Amino acid sequence: MLQTREEYLRLADELTEHSRRYYVDANPTISDVEYDKLLKKLEKCEEDNPSWMVDWSPSKRVGHAPISSFNKVTRDTPMLSLDNTYDADELRAFHDRVIGGLGDEPLEYVVEPKIDGLGIELTYTDGIFVLGSTRGDGLTGEDVSINLRTVHGVALKLREPASLVVRGEVFMTREAFARVNEKRLADGDALFKNARNTAAGTLKLQDSSEAAKRPLMVTLYELVGAEQEGATEHQDTHFQTLERLKELGIPVSDHNTVATNWDELIAAVESWRDRRHALPFEADGLVIKVNSYAQRAKLGSTSKYPRWAIAYKFPAEQVTTTVLGLSHNVGRTGAVTPVADLEPVELAGTTVKRASLHNWDQVERLGIGKGDRVLIHKAGEIIPQVLSVTEKAGNDVFREPTNCPSCDSVLVREEGKVALLCVASMTCGGQLQESVEFFAGRKQMNIDGMGEKLCGLLIDADLISSVADIFTLKAEDIAKLDRLGEVSANNLISAIETAKRDASFSRLLTALGIRHLGGSAAKAIAQKYNRMAALFELADIDDGGESFLEGVCAIDGIGAVIAQSLYDFVHDPTNRAVLERLIELGVDPVEKVVAKVEGGLSGKTFVITGTLSAPRGEFKARIEAVGGKVTGSVSKSTNYLVAGEKTGKSKLSAAEKHGVEVLDEAALEALIAG
Ligand code: IVH
Repeated sequence: MLQTREEYLRLADELTEHSRRYYVDANPTISDVEYDKLLKKLEKCEEDNPSWMVDWSPSKRVGHAPISSFNKVTRDTPMLSLDNTYDADELRAFHDRVIGGLGDEPLEYVVEPKIDGLGIELTYTDGIFVLGSTRGDGLTGEDVSINLRTVHGVALKLREPASLVVRGEVFMTREAFARVNEKRLADGDALFKNARNTAAGTLKLQDSSEAAKRPLMVTLYELVGAEQEGATEHQDTHFQTLERLKELGIPVSDHNTVATNWDELIAAVESWRDRRHALPFEADGLVIKVNSYAQRAKLGSTSKYPRWAIAYKFPAEQVTTTVLGLSHNVGRTGAVTPVADLEPVELAGTTVKRASLHNWDQVERLGIGKGDRVLIHKAGEIIPQVLSVTEKAGNDVFREPTNCPSCDSVLVREEGKVALLCVASMTCGGQLQESVEFFAGRKQMNIDGMGEKLCGLLIDADLISSVADIFTLKAEDIAKLDRLGEVSANNLISAIETAKRDASFSRLLTALGIRHLGGSAAKAIAQKYNRMAALFELADIDDGGESFLEGVCAIDGIGAVIAQSLYDFVHDPTNRAVLERLIELGVDPVEKVVAKVEGGLSGKTFVITGTLSAPRGEFKARIEAVGGKVTGSVSKSTNYLVAGEKTGKSKLSAAEKHGVEVLDEAALEALIAG
C-alpha cells in the first residue's frame, strides 16, 4: 500500500524510468512481470486516491473514450520535406552545393536511416508530454495525442523538466506488422497492405484502446529551434542534440553515424546497401544532414526543403532471372491467376522462386514464355512481381487455360474484368482449403478450433470435399488424423454442433464466400429473405433471374453486382447441391427479422459492460426490441452504461466524463419494462 502522494509519485517516476530503460535504451533492468506488478500497484493506488493521479501516469496510456474528430494544430515552424537523390552522382551534386555554400570550412554529416513511417511532432512543457500531432501539410497537422500516448516509446514525462518540441517518425516494425496481419487473417478481416499504411491508420483511429493494441514505435530525429544559440537545449551540433534527447528519455535511432568527408559519406551510404534489410523496420533510404547548426543556418532552406539535408533513396531492388515455367494460383473467390516459376534468385533479402503475373492480360502484354529472362521486383517490399522480359528464349508465349487447373471445370471471364474465374467454388479443390477455412472463420460460422492446419488435415484425409461435409464428420474419423486425439476430435465435433446451433442465416450466407457478398450485405439480404428456402424460391422463378435481381436489388444497400453474383451462385447446380445438402444436415438457420421497432427506448444508445446474469447478446436483443441501440464504447452520444459485475474502471470513468447515466441490471430491467 502506498501511504502518501509522495510515495505514489515516486512509484510513477520509477515506472517511467523503467519504461525509458526498455524503450529508449533497449536495456531493461527489470522483467516484464515485475513491471506489470508495479503498474498494478500504481493503478490500485490511483483507484483508491483518484485525486493523486497525474496526467503523465504510466497507467494512462490506454483507455480513453473514443473521440469523433481530431483537432487541427498549426505550427510556427513548418515541418519541411526532404529533396531526394537516387545515386552517387546526385548525392555528389548535393555535397558540392553544400561546399559551395560553406567554402572550405571543415564539414560533418550525420547519416540516419530514413524510416518509412509518418512524420510526427511531440511537445513537452516542463518535461510533461502535452501534445502530439501528425505532419499534415507541414504547417497544419492533427492533434493525435490520444493515440500517441499509447505508443510506449513516447515518454509521458522526461527525466528533466525541459520544454521542447521534437519531430520524428512513428512506424510499425516488420514483425509487429506481420502479427497484426496474422491476427486479421485469423479473424477474417481484410489484410493491411504495408506497415506504413497500418501505422497511418492506427494513428487516426478514433478509439485509442484499439490503437493501443497495434504496437507502434517512435524515433525522434529533430529538435525544433535547436539551432538558436539562446535556446535552452542548444548544442553546437545535431549529433550532440540527439545524445541530449536520449538523455532526456526521448528515443533516437541507434543507427546514426557521422561522416567527415565525401569518402566517408559514400562509404556509409554503401554500407547500408544490404544492411537495410536487417533493420527491424522498413527504411526507404538514408537522410544525410549537415551536423553543425551554424552551418545549417548559413545554408538555409527553400520553401520546401532544407538546403542542409537530403534524402538518399535506396534503389528499388530489381534482379533478372529465368522463367522455368508457369503455374496457377486458385484463390478463395475462384480467381485463377498466373504465377511464373523462376530460377531461384536473391532479391531484397529473400530467395525468390515464384513471382505473380497478376492476370492473363499482363502475360500477353509481356509476351512471356518458358526460358525467358525477366526483371523482377518486390511490390511493397513483399510480393515478387515480374516487371518486364529482358531476353526472349523464342518459346511460345504462355496461353490462358480454358479449364481450372485444380478441378478442371470451365473457366469464365466476368464481363469487362481481367480476372479468370473458376465458378465451381464449392467443390474446386484449389478453392476448397481456403473456402473451408473461411466458412469456419470467427466472423462466419465460427467453428472454434477449425483453423488452417485442421482444415488442411481434413481435406487431405478426404473427410471434407465441400463445406457441407463438415457436418458429417465423425469423432472417430477425426481422432485417427495425424496428431489429433480423441479429446481434440470431440472438441471439434462439439464446436461444429455449437456453430450449427448458433448460426444465423446471414452468417451462413457470408460463410459461403460468395463473390462481392460481405457480412453487412448478407445481413441486409437476410432481413428480407430470412432462410435459404426463400432464396431458392426466388431463384427458381423461370424468368432468367429477373425476379431474383429485382427482389434483391430492392434491398437498401444492395446493388446489381451483388445481386447477380448471388443469383449465379445459387443457380449453379454444384453449389445448389451443396446448399441442399447443408439443409438436409440441419444447417438451415432462420434469420431473426428485426422489425424497425419504435418503442420506449427509441433513440437511446446503450453500452453494456461487465458480467450480467445472462449473455450480453440477450440484453442487447431486448434493448433493441424496444427501439434502443447498443454500441461498443462510451462516448458523448451514449445515454446509458449498463454495468454488470467486474466492470472495468475505464468504462466507468468514460461514463463519468461524458455524463452518461450508469445502470445496474435491475435498473435496466425497469427501463425495458417501461
Ligand atoms: S529530417 C527538415 N530525418 O522523411 C528535416 N526525416 O521524405 C526533415 N524521415 O518528412 C525531416 N526518417 O517524415 C528526417 N531520420 C530522418 C527521417 C526523416 C524519416 C521522413 C520524414 C520526412 C520525410 C521526407
